[in-house]
Amino acid sequence: MNNGKKRRIAVVPGDGIGPEVIEQALRLLSKLRDDRGLTLEWERLDWPSTAWHQAHGRMMPEDGLKQLEQYDAILLGALGDPGPLRDPSRYVLPDSVSLSPLLEMRKGFDQWVCERPARQLEGARQYLADPRAADTDMLVIRENSEGEYVGQGGRLRQGQPGEIATQTEIFTRFGTERIIRYAFERARKRATERQQAGETRTFKQLDDSERESQVCIITKRNALRYWGDMYTEVFDEVAADYPDVGTTHELIDAACMKFVQAPWQFDVVVASNLQGDILTDLAAVISGGLGVAPSCNLNPDDRSRPSMFEPTHGSAPDIAGENKADPTAMLFTAARMLDWLGEEDSALAEAAWQLHEAVAADLAANGDQTRSTSAIGDAILERLK
Ligand code: IPM
Ligand code: MN
Repeated sequence: MNNGKKRRIAVVPGDGIGPEVIEQALRLLSKLRDDRGLTLEWERLDWPSTAWHQAHGRMMPEDGLKQLEQYDAILLGALGDPGPLRDPSRYVLPDSVSLSPLLEMRKGFDQWVCERPARQLEGARQYLADPRAADTDMLVIRENSEGEYVGQGGRLRQGQPGEIATQTEIFTRFGTERIIRYAFERARKRATERQQAGETRTFKQLDDSERESQVCIITKRNALRYWGDMYTEVFDEVAADYPDVGTTHELIDAACMKFVQAPWQFDVVVASNLQGDILTDLAAVISGGLGVAPSCNLNPDDRSRPSMFEPTHGSAPDIAGENKADPTAMLFTAARMLDWLGEEDSALAEAAWQLHEAVAADLAANGDQTRSTSAIGDAILERLK
């Protein structure tokens, strides 16, 4: 199935290692497009970026969001300190400036889901000593549109001894319900995919019954009770529509402990914006590190607005420009983008699968070696032949 529509991608290399990992993604996307005649095209934008800020005094053009809205997806390398760290005279911006386009895109295009899978893949570094950690396979879903990230507040009497800073968190029932429902849908889908692959996982419930999938909700309701209670109530309401999916609740601090102690016990995890942010760096490390951790920011309701695909890692200024960055996370992220665009185009969905499998096979075969960014790209390109 292909409705003949060309998919247009805005490619944003960004800062630091961003351009290096994006280069590998584009090599592989070109190969897939040429081999399979994919109806895919992309444009490389030199903004948002710190370099663009240096030239124009802002991270992106004033109508940047409007321009980006014309695309079907955004593939982003990284934003932040461009490095190299050893150059003290490099042009560096405060994080709040260099990273703000990320938040503007997430909010502007209502990318309310952030999906961060954390699966211990063969060949990836296993930081945890317990051999059961090899079975870690979870999907952390982060609320991406509100919560702690609404950016409301201010500073009163700035710089004076009596200064007051406020930072308001906003949780809506609407936003809560949609992210929790999305988590249940994904859990159900994961169970179906496991069945199709002849695998099963079982999650024991409090009443001793068992389910083949599970959603764990994260809160801090023992201290942050208002949104914590609302999350809990909405979770229970939504769960009633999914009797086939198991449920569990963890406080964020206990979840951090259990992610390290027994990450293989989690399936789908759903968390608020900030708690999900913190938890996904931890999840990335316990499943191989930031070099292999993909991420995407999705608007599942409105595909006329672009979703954004960027790995969990940042601009890594310590290794920027040295051909040392691991492009694996970027490549898994690019595969996820093809899969997303492939919802209405089976050729893209097949290309997504082929790319994902090639990256995973390369990791399994060579993950223990230290290789350059381009050498990893070369090896995966070879697998696509
Ligand atoms: C992430 C990042 C961003 C976030 C920063 C750069 C604003 O940490 O994508 O996880 O907090 O969302
Ligand atoms: Mn983060």
